[in-house]
Amino acid sequence: MKKTITDNRVDPDILAYTVGRDPELDLRLVVWDCMGTAAHVAMLSEMKLKRPVVTKPEAEKVRKELAAIVKLARSGGFEIREDDQDVHMAVERVLTEKLGDLGKKIHTGRSRNDQVAVDVRLHLKDELLSLFGEIVKLLDALVAFGRKHDAVPLVGRTHLQPAMPSSVGMWSTGHAEMILDQLTQLDAAYRLADLNPLGSAAGYGVPLPLNRKRTTKLLGFARPIHNCFGASMARGECEASVLGALAQLMAVLSRLAEDLILFSMPEFAYFRLPREYCTGSSIMPQKFNPDVLELVRSKAAQVLGLSVASLSMLHAMPGGYNRDLQDSKFLYMEGLDVTRTTVRILAKVVKGVEVDEPKCRAAFTPGVFATDAALRLVASGTPWRDAYHDVRDHLDRLADEDPDRAVAAKTHLGATAGIDYDYYRDAIAEVFGVMLDRRVKFEKCIHALVG
Ligand code: ARG
Repeated sequence: MKKTITDNRVDPDILAYTVGRDPELDLRLVVWDCMGTAAHVAMLSEMKLKRPVVTKPEAEKVRKELAAIVKLARSGGFEIREDDQDVHMAVERVLTEKLGDLGKKIHTGRSRNDQVAVDVRLHLKDELLSLFGEIVKLLDALVAFGRKHDAVPLVGRTHLQPAMPSSVGMWSTGHAEMILDQLTQLDAAYRLADLNPLGSAAGYGVPLPLNRKRTTKLLGFARPIHNCFGASMARGECEASVLGALAQLMAVLSRLAEDLILFSMPEFAYFRLPREYCTGSSIMPQKFNPDVLELVRSKAAQVLGLSVASLSMLHAMPGGYNRDLQDSKFLYMEGLDVTRTTVRILAKVVKGVEVDEPKCRAAFTPGVFATDAALRLVASGTPWRDAYHDVRDHLDRLADEDPDRAVAAKTHLGATAGIDYDYYRDAIAEVFGVMLDRRVKFEKCIHALVG
């Protein structure tokens, strides 16, 4: 039997199964666990009680030790043992080794349930802010690509069949806009993560005058989650919201990857991927494959799976804390890792893509101009349906149409000659500005609590 910090003896197999991957995954929560504890202990020291739980000088002692643990963790030196079970017990063990009885007081009025919930939310905030930073770089790359090749004609497709004149600028900023608009979901997920569950304890509050607004301020959250039971119910929900937003973003990125794969295959050849971004075959000497983009597609499927797993876990779970929730950690951590690396690699690929202008122009079959030609007939008085039939019966007349003229002819908002690059510049700058404000505010809190 193994003895744990809570002193109950647990069968080693049961312990190993219930601990699961926590000792490894929780290493990513050490900083956030220490930050949460520093805020909790500071708040405890300010509580108006006849006999204080901890005094202010004691709280400062704890804070200094927590800062030392954070330093150790940042250099990769902090260890979570199996009999610690998780980061929370590991930190308490170390504080007790260093500070004796004072270390044993830090968990007063708190449960691992609100503790882990606050750790995860701090971690989510940090990760999402980094992700926003990577997304801004991808958006910059897409918009720069669009600007550079703005008016290069590209066959616009529906059902994958040639449809109407498009342009490289339209294609590229179209993908950028999909990503930009998708950020409203990610922003909503960030706002959900920005709520403080600390002080809900096991999910039902405690008979101590906890100042939950104080820890909310110290930790830099927008507001506390009001209801203690609600705060415990929100564990996993918040992670699922993040994963839902990530899955949707990844679906958008997967379509970008798919377009790049198609348009760079020899049969299209509108685009060229740099040789060094392609991987070869062990048997076919001629091969340069877009493996990197194929993996973007598969990662999108993977993140969707993680999102489904996170919701599936929740839907039949009774109210209050259940250990099932421990498994939500791997899901959101994996989802964020996969998404961040995907966004980063796509920014690199987009920067490297070359455009083959003659191939883009050569792809314009007469039919691509048909709708434009019918609309010219409308302009000279022919009813639309008659113009439509007339053009369809004489597609051969369109053999000499000029793709560049067709691109230049559509000047309304968002059409080939109406792409407003300033709009994209401002929208991206806004995303960047919001991200930076949040980052600065958050870093101030981190610094004040744990250095
Ligand atoms: N490692 C646990 C988790 O992630 C910590 C909370 C444990 N709480 C409990 N009541 N057993 O959920």
